Amino acid sequence: MSTPNPGNGSPTPPSSSIPTVFFAHQRAAAEERKGAYPFRFPRDERQLGGKYSVAENSRRLLRFFYLERRLMQALGAWTLSIREFEVKLETGRHIFYHGDAARMLRERLNEQEMRLRDIDAFRDSEIDRFIDELLSANSACELLVGIHQVLGRALATAYHHHIDDTDPVTDAPTIRCLRRILTDYEPMLQWAEAAIAAYVEGGEPEPGLAVWRWHLQRLLASIGGVTGVDPRTEAPTPLRIDTKPFERGTVPLRDVRFDTFKNTGDYDTADQAERFPKDSYENLRLRFIRTQRDEVDAIEAFGTFIWDIRFKDFQSEYNLARITWDEARHTEIGHRALLACGYDPFELRNRLTGSTCRGPMEPAFAMAEINLFGEVGVLKTINNLIDTAAERNDELLRHIADFIRADERTHVRKGQGIIKVMTDLEAKPLEERTRELFTECLVSLGAFKKDMDVFTVSRDDLEHLVGE
Ligand SMILES: [Fe+2]
Ligand SMILES: [Fe+2]
Repeated sequence: MSTPNPGNGSPTPPSSSIPTVFFAHQRAAAEERKGAYPFRFPRDERQLGGKYSVAENSRRLLRFFYLERRLMQALGAWTLSIREFEVKLETGRHIFYHGDAARMLRERLNEQEMRLRDIDAFRDSEIDRFIDELLSANSACELLVGIHQVLGRALATAYHHHIDDTDPVTDAPTIRCLRRILTDYEPMLQWAEAAIAAYVEGGEPEPGLAVWRWHLQRLLASIGGVTGVDPRTEAPTPLRIDTKPFERGTVPLRDVRFDTFKNTGDYDTADQAERFPKDSYENLRLRFIRTQRDEVDAIEAFGTFIWDIRFKDFQSEYNLARITWDEARHTEIGHRALLACGYDPFELRNRLTGSTCRGPMEPAFAMAEINLFGEVGVLKTINNLIDTAAERNDELLRHIADFIRADERTHVRKGQGIIKVMTDLEAKPLEERTRELFTECLVSLGAFKKDMDVFTVSRDDLEHLVGE
């Protein structure tokens, strides 16, 4: 290495006390080589800078992660209690959007010097109080106001600010992560605005919503906003949770367009008439499509599980969130397929049997029923159904059942891990206890009579009576 010669050439003024040391011949040679380079690629205008250190970046992202995780859980807590079909479906989707946002932030935090164990163990009692208050909404419309207009909007704004404020070069992965989250947020928040407007046009009193919105905005401001660093204001009083702590609903609700039944799992019994002969393809086909539409109850089941097992295991919460979205899709598929078959989906009675039993139940048994009996039960018959549909050139059924089979296989696989998080029981006692609990529930609903002293419904009957 030769002795540096700062006097040789014109040195760039140093930006700090450390001088710039270059060799004139190297600089001149570099100039010459650059002159010979023929390509004028687009200029990358990003500059080094940004407001955050890795530690401050992590502190903010951890709060975002926590809020997204809490939003996923919070919406799960309300899945049974939302009446309106469209809102329940959309909420099933949003649960996954928040779960996926949490997953992406968690991954980024793990790259920003945080261990997954510490990320998952993070709690914030002020945020928890805010979430509990937001959940104490008096209606699904109030819930949307809190979730989307107050918290959702505040998060979207914070994500935009974070994108603007962080270093676009050194912290590019955070920017990409937040942009991808915002891709889900934009249609979600737009939908929520339109949905709240629809509630108001349909008679939901606007002043009550405005009072609730202002109350929650003040509560959020009192904890420093979503970043925690905004100037804190006085918290509003009283809070609803101070009078009555939040508890999730246990009864599945439907809007006025539905005609529901829970005294049986069988559609012909519920209709008190047969549309098609019992074992005919036509009957099995319609039963399958109705069951898909009636999986509106699976949104309720899996959404509720997220709430009930909250903070036990992030991966299980995330898998449940994804299954919840899938079940919202199955419901949509069923609704659309009924239309494509020439039915008004609301003329077909809606089965509430399974959800009524699962609603108040401990998650492990409710999960065992829907996963081990319901979803496994679907897989037992779906191959034949798809083959027959193909033979008969019934493209509608073949097409939808093909995708649903792939989803349900995935659910059965993921379900095994989730059940392990929910209970220490071995497979056999878990199945037995589940059958006992559902026998009790089905008897209480009048789905059948208990005519023996010791009697537990069989696995096959359970699959048929609750029917997923
Ligand atoms: Fe499903
Ligand atoms: Fe499923």
